Amino acid sequence: MLTKAVRPIFLVLKIRTDGTTRRFQQSGIEIKMNKEIVSKSRNTKLNTLVAEMTALCKPDQIHWCDGSDEEYKSLCDLMVKSGTLFPLNQQKRPGSYLARSHPSDVARVEDRTFICSKTKDDAGPNNNWTDPAEMKKTLTGLFDGCMRGRTMYVIPFSMGPLGSDISHIGVEITDSPYVVISMRTMTRMGKKVLDVLGDGDFVPCIHSVGAPLKPGEKDVAWPCNHTTKYIVHFPEEHAIWSYGSGYGGNALLGKKCFALRIASVMAREEGWLAEHMLIVGLESPKGEKTYLAAAFPSACGKTNLAMIIPPQGFEGWKAWTVGDDIAWLKPGKDGKLYAINPEAGYFGVAPGTSMKTNPSAMKLLDKNVVFTNVALTDDGDVWWEGMTDETPAHLIDWTGQDWTPASGKPAAHPNARFTAPATQCPNLDTSWDDPKGVPISAFLFGGRLSHTFPLVLQSFDWDHGVYLAATMGSEATAAAVNQAAVRRDPMAMLPFCGYNMADYWGHWLALKSKVSHLPLIFRVNWFRRDENGKFMWPGYGQNMRVLKWVVDRVHGRAGAVDSPFGQTPRFADINWDGMPYESAKYDRLMEIERTSAIRELDDQGDLFSCYGSRTPKPMHDQRAQIRTRVESAQAVWRPSN
Ligand code: OXD
Ligand code: MN
Repeated sequence: MLTKAVRPIFLVLKIRTDGTTRRFQQSGIEIKMNKEIVSKSRNTKLNTLVAEMTALCKPDQIHWCDGSDEEYKSLCDLMVKSGTLFPLNQQKRPGSYLARSHPSDVARVEDRTFICSKTKDDAGPNNNWTDPAEMKKTLTGLFDGCMRGRTMYVIPFSMGPLGSDISHIGVEITDSPYVVISMRTMTRMGKKVLDVLGDGDFVPCIHSVGAPLKPGEKDVAWPCNHTTKYIVHFPEEHAIWSYGSGYGGNALLGKKCFALRIASVMAREEGWLAEHMLIVGLESPKGEKTYLAAAFPSACGKTNLAMIIPPQGFEGWKAWTVGDDIAWLKPGKDGKLYAINPEAGYFGVAPGTSMKTNPSAMKLLDKNVVFTNVALTDDGDVWWEGMTDETPAHLIDWTGQDWTPASGKPAAHPNARFTAPATQCPNLDTSWDDPKGVPISAFLFGGRLSHTFPLVLQSFDWDHGVYLAATMGSEATAAAVNQAAVRRDPMAMLPFCGYNMADYWGHWLALKSKVSHLPLIFRVNWFRRDENGKFMWPGYGQNMRVLKWVVDRVHGRAGAVDSPFGQTPRFADINWDGMPYESAKYDRLMEIERTSAIRELDDQGDLFSCYGSRTPKPMHDQRAQIRTRVESAQAVWRPSN
């Protein structure tokens, strides 16, 4: 758990529970300890971790988070005083606040994110890597005294319903009260977690904003380290260390760091899946519920799909949200895959969210929300680009400056976020908190591709489905030309897989022999454009038409035709009630053109070459089979020919 470099100091640690002072004999460090606080955990590993971190980080105080309403309120009050939070208009947004981060700290920092496995090959070309011993030395140096003048918060949290076989516990140690209140919304957090943990194991998540205070130094509104950031994972130890950032996935370590990077490693070791997927339940007018899990790269509308509202023509259908970002899936005794959303809240992108694109999210945001980097209206409410048709005449932008439509820059940062409790989602599924999870019948994988790829297709079998998922990608820009570079994002896990991506494909392929009732696999693409660069598919709520075909395929009641890429619906297989769509346009939406298909396959080959001999053979076999199908089909394949 701790660094080899640090360990010698702590091996001689004398844990005294009979006083308020601890001396670390070898280092000579003497630290004031609160006996009562330390005794809040009876977990040996945790007590040792807290003692070690106290010695290293040298905080002024330690606070064990109990997760209570009082604690939440008092931390919000503290941050209002320090200028980190601004209370919003309480009539309009009760219990809600606005935070503005430092401009150097606005998003996840992929170039500063490391997977420090024992060997570079185990991290793979998909990850930054540094030798773990070297990284531990660097981190020990950075963390030494990093919490001076601050409080060290100990946050016990559960990813997933408390006590579920699918859930896992973590403990985040942080010097950021903003992280504490965010973790309270995003996870099940506090004393109840310590009770479930007992003396069991947990994932240590060490975090500091990297901004110690000198005696008497006044704090800033958004402390962070402007020059040094490290988001580090030790996959063999299941440990996370994060330094220098206070924002989002860099700092709320339960989310991308634990629930995806470390959990993907645990999942491989133990035979389950930790995926970058939303979970949605579709209920037919007869009351039959079918759960789907869907992976899309960041910024492809996952939250919108998770909260989809069935459009006109789908009277009696309901869609229920289980999760909008991450799914943990474990095989059940009945041979099905059961999924939980390990999170308890939504950390969604605000810009683009509106009553038109996602009315459920807008209702979710009515109260008890922490907004970060959105704009402030003159009446103390929030605003972001795309929220309303009309742009307000005056705002305070995300940097705290006056803003008008003539300012020539966005009022909200493009990665401005909301943090809101899942329980406020108006269409939250009744099973969202069920420790058993929900049975998944189908996986959807989708990227953002202007050309080449049809609206939807189903894989011929499991290996083909894994191939379709592994080769998904998005165009780097919303380019209208076919040559736009595609950034491959296998299973939408490129920034989140905690080990070599080729081994991850192998893990997916191996599930075939472990799960008897495997979900069906589909590829979707909402973003195809016509020759004028216009989107051919309306997206948003109309995606329900595709989801219904998927559900019907699951239950064996919808037709399909074989295309070179997979099984696709014919025009008549889709429900068009309430949305006229020409069959000729549908043919173009679904077409597979030989030259661009071959180019796509060549590009997919480049992806596999990057992983060399670690790429599983079925990936090469699938590519060869698709090529044969493309070459033997018409030059332009369409569902109607
Ligand atoms: C996210 C992401 O923040 O995928 O969910 O980037
Ligand atoms: Mn995500």
